[in-house]
Amino acid sequence: MSKTTFTCSACGAGHKKWAGRCETCGEWNSIVEEAALSTGPKKKSLGATKGRRIELSDLTTKDPPLPRAISGLDEFDRVLGGGLVPASAILVGGDPGIGKSTLLLQAAAAFARKGLKSIYFSGEEAASQIRMRANRLGLSDAPVKLAAETNLRDILTTLDAERPEFAIIDSIQTMWADHVDSAPGSVSQVRAAAHELTAFAKRRGISVVLVGHVTKDGQIAGPRVIEHMVDTVLYFEGERGHQFRILRAVKNRFGPADEIGVFEMTGAGLAEVTNPSALFLSERDAPASGSVVFAGIEGTRPVLVEIQALVAQSSLATPRRNVVGWDSGRLAMILAVLEARCGVTFSGMDVYLNIAGGMRISEPAADLAVAAALISARQDHALPTDTVIFGEISLSGALRPISQAEARLKEAAKLGFSAALAPSSIKTETSGGITIKKLSDLNDFIVEVFGNIEA
Ligand code: TYD
Ligand code: MG
Repeated sequence: MSKTTFTCSACGAGHKKWAGRCETCGEWNSIVEEAALSTGPKKKSLGATKGRRIELSDLTTKDPPLPRAISGLDEFDRVLGGGLVPASAILVGGDPGIGKSTLLLQAAAAFARKGLKSIYFSGEEAASQIRMRANRLGLSDAPVKLAAETNLRDILTTLDAERPEFAIIDSIQTMWADHVDSAPGSVSQVRAAAHELTAFAKRRGISVVLVGHVTKDGQIAGPRVIEHMVDTVLYFEGERGHQFRILRAVKNRFGPADEIGVFEMTGAGLAEVTNPSALFLSERDAPASGSVVFAGIEGTRPVLVEIQALVAQSSLATPRRNVVGWDSGRLAMILAVLEARCGVTFSGMDVYLNIAGGMRISEPAADLAVAAALISARQDHALPTDTVIFGEISLSGALRPISQAEARLKEAAKLGFSAALAPSSIKTETSGGITIKKLSDLNDFIVEVFGNIEA
């Protein structure tokens, strides 16, 4: 008897029947029909019979020196929590074309040059294509082993024989475990392959990186279905058409989550950006209304970013609320507080909010900077370019304390800012020549910065 089930390819939840929207994760069009796991006679598991040993090719070989877990790609090491933990399983997710393969080839080369035995399995590109890329990135001399392969049984056999310290599976959605009766990329295949690989990695002391494509159309399973199996989940993000790329830890058993690494995509691969604040602010010059600099913290590091708002008369019955890089629910809350507590209304106006440089912010400490950008845009009143802003807004309109004020101010001073607007509860008085204006309430803030505003 053949039985089918329905699975969400975004989150992996099982459903009895097809639906347009997954009730578990809220994703649209992600539910796909899948044959239920093997109903015929049970096939042997991958460990029971040996597969063929895969022929590995070289970039060029070199005797590796002593193994170390630091790659020397500082931004990558930091996001991992200070280097690679032996026998750990890492998931690197991201949109197709964002640069995952490039990043991991660079990481593999960096580890290999430090003496870690590294193998790169690609299920997407031919070995010759990867060699060409390595050549373009100037990595041909790195002692990385390479194979184009999708058969999981063969990959496990090879890993068992080679015993590398670092292995990359690019991508998990192309892997095919022959003991599971469904197509590569399906939820059951992706889960089974990730399970086999992580269990094997733990057993044999190999650190594995699984590359996962984020999918919008639900044709293949997204990386979220395996997030729980791995130790570390990293997402590689960026705006298409923008050269900045951010590697963000969203889960890390061996380090702080929310840590970011910043890269720039260049003609010769990903270059590390050691001073992201300077990069995110690089396009600012003359004062402009709607533009505000937020002093944020990403992971363990202070980062200054520009928040841009645009407010325009709307011709729509329901005006637009458009957000890039921030939470739209949070924007709705700030607009409601401005209206209810301060009498500043945005009804009948379209509101656009953008975090410059392709950054994404999740800190509530950005509230005050967002409010400032919104009012600045509404009033067409530019703020001084030497000022940074941070603070959380409560529903009452009070400004709430935020963490690590000192680090934020220090970063601002380093980048040449001379004034800060912050909640009154922060302890710091002055920091590195920055004049701090402390405010306890959103109304006080508005009067201080914009004077009296007519609703
Ligand atoms: P890739 O690593 O193949 O993306 P993914 O594995 O996430 O699908 O990167 C693809 C893009 O990166 C491609 O559009 C070209 C660009 N790129 C550069 O701009 N410079 C480079 O040196 C490389 C290797 C790629
Ligand atoms: Mg790729």
